[in-house]
Amino acid sequence: MNTAINLPVSRSSGLDGVVVADTLLSLVDGERGRLIIAGHEVEELAGRYSFEAAAHLLWTGRLPSPEEEAGLTVRLGAGRLAAYEALPRLAGALAQPQVMGALAAGVAALGPGPGSPEEQAAYHTGAIPVLAAAWSAARCRQALPRPDGEARHATDVLRLVRGGARPEPALARGLERYLVTVIDHGMNASTFTARVIASTQAEASLALAGAIGALSGPLHGGAPGPVLDMLDAIGAPDKAAAWLAAELAAGRRIMGMGHRIYRVRDPRVVVLERAARELEAAGHGTPRLELAKAVEAAAEALLSAKNPDRSLKANVELATAVLLDAVGVQRELFSAMFAAGRVAGWLAHIAEQRRSGRLIRPESRYVGPMPSAMPPA
Ligand code: COA
Repeated sequence: MNTAINLPVSRSSGLDGVVVADTLLSLVDGERGRLIIAGHEVEELAGRYSFEAAAHLLWTGRLPSPEEEAGLTVRLGAGRLAAYEALPRLAGALAQPQVMGALAAGVAALGPGPGSPEEQAAYHTGAIPVLAAAWSAARCRQALPRPDGEARHATDVLRLVRGGARPEPALARGLERYLVTVIDHGMNASTFTARVIASTQAEASLALAGAIGALSGPLHGGAPGPVLDMLDAIGAPDKAAAWLAAELAAGRRIMGMGHRIYRVRDPRVVVLERAARELEAAGHGTPRLELAKAVEAAAEALLSAKNPDRSLKANVELATAVLLDAVGVQRELFSAMFAAGRVAGWLAHIAEQRRSGRLIRPESRYVGPMPSAMPPA
């Protein structure tokens, strides 16, 4: 690898501000801190609707009737069961040290799935959390409980990742709020990856595998586990400022802070904090909520002193860590739960990209050496 030459880093290196698609799926308004998903504010969608309803909205452009919602519950349940039945043949693919590697390999090995594009979408959306739960169970040398094909998706997902006991409704609703909140978010790195792969007319399960790879990185969906590690390392609100200052002095980024698009607080933080408060009101502790708020305040002050021209506020990962911890998901599975929600958005983008039919193929500027002039003959 040629690491000796530093290439210039420009805004275009990160495609800042470049529009690569027209989409019906979501709008991220970074100045006002709004996220609109297929015509609905994220607060409304996550506050009032099930994961099934939100997925139906992305896949069809409208909220479902009660019958359609129940039908999707059954199809997602069939997807969870199909992934469960496929586990013996996926054991090799899932034997990876990191859950996101296992998810990517597992979904690629699953292949396209049966039936119409709608049935395939339900199949992959049902499968992803089962693969994550199977990876976790295998690490603990436990058997994965059989999915309940009739249960509401979020309820069964929480049951599977927590080892089989049916979760209390408030906890299942907390996870569902999370899955809906992260279901789609503009042209983020994993969605763009999925669209690039889909634009080559590759098969959807391989576009999902690529998207999972993009989501695994700490600058995208890999941050909530490290956020929880950070909260544990800080330990108490009065220790936050000194701990964070030392991180910045060491040249490290503060996980859960900053965003490419948002110049104000990520609206998803508000939704997830509200979900955490509702858990508290239902009698479930959210042990790290107050600490996270103290860390956020200290980090905001330090970052605005360090980068006065760049507004760096809390992003979704800070609140994700608090909420997923409170509903009983292990931290190794945080990014996998992100994938379990976002998969519905990826599939909607894959379908939208396919409709455009256009290969995504940008260009690079060559700044390397040219061959020496041909010697005269
Ligand atoms: N901690 C410390 N400094 C940060 C920071 C953070 N969380 N986020 C951005 N910065 C700094 C950058 O280092 C850069 O400083 P410099 O100009 O001195 O080099 C400056 O702020 C501007 O950063 P920018 O290029 O605008 O950020 P970006 O758009 O490339 O990055 C993130 C966005 C999300 C990748 C970035 O904020 C980050 O790394 N956050 C932490 C990881 C995280 O929470 N990921 C989950 C994202 S949802």
